[in-house]
Amino acid sequence: MPILTSNISKPVTDEGTVHGSVPSLLAVEGLSKSFGAKKAVDHISFTIGEGRCVALLGPNGAGKTTTIRMLTGLLAPTTGTISFPGLADGIDRRQIIGYLPQVPAFYGWMTGREFLLYSAKLCGLSGKEADLLCDSMLQRVGIADAAKRRIGGYSGGMKQRLGLAQALIHRPKLLILDEPVSALDPIGRREVMELLSELKQETTVLFSTHVLHDAEELCDDVLIMRSGHIAISGSMNSLRNQHRQSVLFIETEGDPKSKEWLARWLKQPPKFIQSSVLLMNGNGAKLLVNDIDSARRDILAQVLSAEVQVTRLEFGYSTLEDLFMRVVSES
Ligand SMILES: Nc1ncnc2c1ncn2[C@@H]1O[C@H](COP(=O)(O)OP(=O)(O)OP(=O)(O)O)[C@@H](O)[C@H]1O
Ligand SMILES: [Mg+2]
Repeated sequence: MPILTSNISKPVTDEGTVHGSVPSLLAVEGLSKSFGAKKAVDHISFTIGEGRCVALLGPNGAGKTTTIRMLTGLLAPTTGTISFPGLADGIDRRQIIGYLPQVPAFYGWMTGREFLLYSAKLCGLSGKEADLLCDSMLQRVGIADAAKRRIGGYSGGMKQRLGLAQALIHRPKLLILDEPVSALDPIGRREVMELLSELKQETTVLFSTHVLHDAEELCDDVLIMRSGHIAISGSMNSLRNQHRQSVLFIETEGDPKSKEWLARWLKQPPKFIQSSVLLMNGNGAKLLVNDIDSARRDILAQVLSAEVQVTRLEFGYSTLEDLFMRVVSES
């Protein structure tokens, strides 16, 4: 069910669901942030529904971190409001938000457990409660064995896990993670994504990422930012339904004859190929297709008659990454 609306795109709605049936946990209205003459975030509005997992996407410099820092209260907005409908007026938002920054900072001389205990006490937990929670949390994020080691000796992945543990220690209603997997190797990334898929069952999650495949796998809703604006927003399902298009991927050998043939074919593609090329590298191209059956017949015939060395020919559907590329390349 869609819970996100933006000031630019029309809100997208899922067939058969009632817009607004999930109560909003967070509502943002006309939020802007300028740094001198630079408008990092430009009048954005959206809501986040209780229990949803939301991906905040956008190219470098789009305004994701600035938005997140305003949501957490670390940065004062230039204009606009951030509210938590349903929560008591005047509640300190730090009590309900858990936050993992893009570049978390730790005291390297502390052990992981000491740092977590320190975070728990800063959140107002009593000594005994903090003690118990620290152990279960370190266990949960997979660094219990390193609990008594100094953070200075932790790997990037271990620090990220400790960062997650400190964001979760006070059992927040809203977990905000700024690029939680960017510093991790593929195994660490997978493990953190698995942890997030468990966490999203328990709490509302907003995370920014450049790994679109992760967003597609994990999130219920998507916000795509571009140049301080929200370019597209909606539930993953509605975006899939609204923007899904047939796609053809063709890749030839790197020999000159095959490359020349592909370049020539792309200059004058048949009419069932839409003009927009989603991706082009030296000897491969990904294209939007109107009529997949005609495309299949035509391209196979052409490849055979031109005796081109094709290494890959695939027909499928556009992904979140394709939508992202299209959105961010629009000026
Ligand atoms: N403290 C600051 N002073 C001046 N400009 C800033 C400041 N913080 C951010 N900006 C500018 O605001 C814009 C948005 O930055 P922001 O860090 O929010 O982008 P982002 O989407 O998080 O990018 P990334 O994907 O690289 O993390 C950028 O042009 C950035 O240079
Ligand atoms: Mg950022």
